[in-house]
Amino acid sequence: MKVLVTYFSQTGNTEKIARAICEEATRANEAELKKLEDVNPSDVAGYDIIFIGSPLHSANLPAPVQECLGVLQASSGQKLAAFITHFAPAYPGQTMDGFTEPIKAACQEKGIEYKGCFDCQGVLAESMHAAVQKKLNLSDEQWGDIVKQMTGRPNQEDEGKAQAFAKELLG
Ligand SMILES: Cc1cc2nc3c(=O)[nH]c(=O)nc-3n(C[C@H](O)[C@H](O)[C@H](O)COP(=O)(O)O)c2cc1C
Repeated sequence: MKVLVTYFSQTGNTEKIARAICEEATRANEAELKKLEDVNPSDVAGYDIIFIGSPLHSANLPAPVQECLGVLQASSGQKLAAFITHFAPAYPGQTMDGFTEPIKAACQEKGIEYKGCFDCQGVLAESMHAAVQKKLNLSDEQWGDIVKQMTGRPNQEDEGKAQAFAKELLG
């Protein structure tokens, strides 16, 4: 199978998961890793399955990811899976249904088979800590707990889980 792993990443967390997924995909497929900004929408039709990765920004997919979904030129029988990183500890294990809505809508519109989403925590850039703590109205203790949980993420375990997700989809 021809696999494209593409991602938008500002601080490296989503890129880390993208690399792990691509490493897994490479074991038995022809897999390519590309930054989202390097993807030509008209080339996408040549892949059997596309993995698209994004951070959450303000509980949403950032504009470049939404724009890319809008211009994807799919071919029949193509599949797409997503992966998302976020600092909030509440999301793991929960369905990413709300956040993946634009991905699912794009798949439906273009006749692409949506294969699900992997998500994990990714550390929030230090420069944003004070603003986010204030915005969420969290005490130092509550914020400290969140910082503890997100520090070092995605970690090896997250990468392993992302690889297991990819392996299952790739068969
Ligand atoms: C502008 C901005 C908004 C963010 N909003 C959220 C959010 O709503 N929920 C969340 O869990 N994480 C949020 N985050 C944290 C990122 O999703 C998280 O740190 C992610 O792993 C960053 O991925 P990257 O290193 O690939 O850019 C936000 C980060 C930025 C920069």
